Amino acid sequence: MNIRYFVLAALASAAFSCASPKPEGTLGAGSELDRKVEDLLSRMTLQEKIGQMNQISAGGEVAPYAAAIREGKVGSILNEVDPVRLNEFQRIAVEQSRLGIPILVGRDIIHGYRTLFPIPLGIAATFDPELARTGAALAAAEARPGGIHWTFSPMLDIARDPRWGRIAEGSGEDPYLDACMAEAFVRGYQGERPGSSSLAACIKHFAGYGAAEGGRDYAGTQIPERLLRNVYLPPFEAAVKAGAMTLMTSFNENDGLPSTGNAPLVRGILREEWGFDGLVVTDWNSMGEMIAHGFTPDRKEAARQALEAGVDMDMMTFGFLSHLEELLKERKVRMADIDEAVRHILKVKYMLGLFDSPYVDPAAAESALYTEDALSAARRTVAESAILLKNEGALPLKGVRTLLVTGPMADSPHDQLGTWSFDGEKDRTVTPLRALREQFDGNVLYVPGLKYTREVRTSFPEVLEAARKADAVLAFVGEEAILSGEAHSLADLNLIGSQSDLLKALKATGKPVVAVVMAGRPLTIERDLPSCDAMLYSFHPGTMGGPGLADLLLGKTSPSGKTPVTFLRTVGQVPMYYNHNMSGRPYQNEKLLDEIGLEAGQTSLGNTSYYLDYGASPLFPFGFGLSYTNFAFSDITLDRDCYGKDDVIRVSYTLSNTGQAEATEVVQVYVRDLVGSVVRPVKELKAFERVTLAPGERKALSIEIPVSRLSFYGRNGERTVEPGGFLLWVAGDSATGEPVPFEVR
Ligand code: GLC
Repeated sequence: MNIRYFVLAALASAAFSCASPKPEGTLGAGSELDRKVEDLLSRMTLQEKIGQMNQISAGGEVAPYAAAIREGKVGSILNEVDPVRLNEFQRIAVEQSRLGIPILVGRDIIHGYRTLFPIPLGIAATFDPELARTGAALAAAEARPGGIHWTFSPMLDIARDPRWGRIAEGSGEDPYLDACMAEAFVRGYQGERPGSSSLAACIKHFAGYGAAEGGRDYAGTQIPERLLRNVYLPPFEAAVKAGAMTLMTSFNENDGLPSTGNAPLVRGILREEWGFDGLVVTDWNSMGEMIAHGFTPDRKEAARQALEAGVDMDMMTFGFLSHLEELLKERKVRMADIDEAVRHILKVKYMLGLFDSPYVDPAAAESALYTEDALSAARRTVAESAILLKNEGALPLKGVRTLLVTGPMADSPHDQLGTWSFDGEKDRTVTPLRALREQFDGNVLYVPGLKYTREVRTSFPEVLEAARKADAVLAFVGEEAILSGEAHSLADLNLIGSQSDLLKALKATGKPVVAVVMAGRPLTIERDLPSCDAMLYSFHPGTMGGPGLADLLLGKTSPSGKTPVTFLRTVGQVPMYYNHNMSGRPYQNEKLLDEIGLEAGQTSLGNTSYYLDYGASPLFPFGFGLSYTNFAFSDITLDRDCYGKDDVIRVSYTLSNTGQAEATEVVQVYVRDLVGSVVRPVKELKAFERVTLAPGERKALSIEIPVSRLSFYGRNGERTVEPGGFLLWVAGDSATGEPVPFEVR
């Protein structure tokens, strides 16, 4: 018996487990299912068990993989989406292999399948988990009839660095918003009870991947355990509690331990402490990459470490397939661990109904795509996700007879879809140009000015000529899809190419200029704000980006999106996020560069935490977004001024629409724990809700927050609510509002 394993598991459970003995499994499958799994497991050979733990990428053709499938060496495939070929794959597995175990088919369905919704960062900007759940359910309704069973989504990586291209794929910087979105995606994909119309969710990338050093993808992370538990793990824990069926380990090493071989993290926290009994899959060759990390000398040791860590399935390293039998003979791995891995895999296959109905009807698959429900939900998500950052009366467009549409993103059907859009079809994309031509009851001029976002030009004569004939200008700028997503980090976050010059030239015409930014990340757009009278920010909006944005621009509905990440003034401010710990020397409005006299004394500026050139504030804080009206908060009161740890805080407030348009406010509740056994953040989001009011309407409302939501991992490694003083805000973003005090005893 490998004594090291026991020591590690004991350390893991001691060092990381804060809970009592292993809780019940999280999949909640039930005895009949367990009986089926045990029965099948008992009939499997060692080779067949190991075959189930092997996942291969198999797209475009069947023949090269037929023999391996027939021999029971493939438990799952990814990257095949053709229903006819998927039926062929299944027929080999079900009718030609000894035990007829169906193949689990995975795909990256990240923000819709064929009907593409905004990228996840855009979905987060809606602060509308119910809409996110609807979108995920519609993605399942499109993909499952085509023979896809498993999506490698939702991505739950907290991201505080916009240089990291994969900030596009997650729900931003806040653990509570991310956790709400995580639960919504899981419930949407899987349904309340996973079955033959579900997609198994795959929560990823476990864990801490978004803290890649320098925002450089695949770089290492340095996240101490307390920060990991208080910031990076809560979305995963929420998703596990919501019944997520699978999880993916991340590429990064954290403090020297690659996640795929990190037993304290996967076996210790995920399995032992949270009781997760779903399927754990590696990321693409992340098992093999432990060799490149210098963490294991070879693939055999990588396979051993991965199994020991709690991994069930190997994506594209072939490490389990090649070495587990030998490792077992050498008594370096336990048969019990192999059996446990295969149980997790078989349980997912049974829960998804694969044994009962492994085949699909290609005709039904086709008719499941681009339904009116999907297209209208995508359009609504676009409208709710766009963030109005500036508006000096230019929006919504009124009294405009001739509109100039310009910019490289105005009619870019591929780039509008954003990253992770393998299965989107650009000819189904409705661009802003097409939508405006259909929806605007005036004359639309179209002169792009730039063919693509990286293009460099020194002048735009044809655009300016057209602007002279127009009453207003809509300039669609931003990032091509390739500029964000996996492995696509940027060190400069300004609008790329000559887009800022285009905006400046348009501003000089004196016509009202509305900039619409489509990007995969929060860009540093401060220098562009003076060039436009209004700016609408749309994280790559997907298939229905045009109609959704036109609904906002033409005033059919008001923007309500809020920033799910902090927008910086310059990339030099990275990392800057709202829920930072309080410094011992917080900024006190000290002088900035252009206010500092010559020969200023060494200590004349005061010693606090800020940049001499860029101060201490971002361009737009977390949770920020304007609408076509104004909202006012008043009468903010708590039902008590002191609470016990098992109580529920009931905060009441009045919201007023003081403007002329119906609009929706995302009401946000933040809390600060004034003193803790460890330093606490200056504030943390603890609740939010969308409230729609007519012009002039006032509404008395209330939100409840269980005191337990204020718990955190303190100095003793336990998660508790520590007694003491707190402050609470109810506001429309993370930077405004007056705090209300309360106590927890
Ligand atoms: C990629 C990504 C992961 C994705 C997987 C399969 O490298 O890191 O998010 O699900 O491989 O495509």
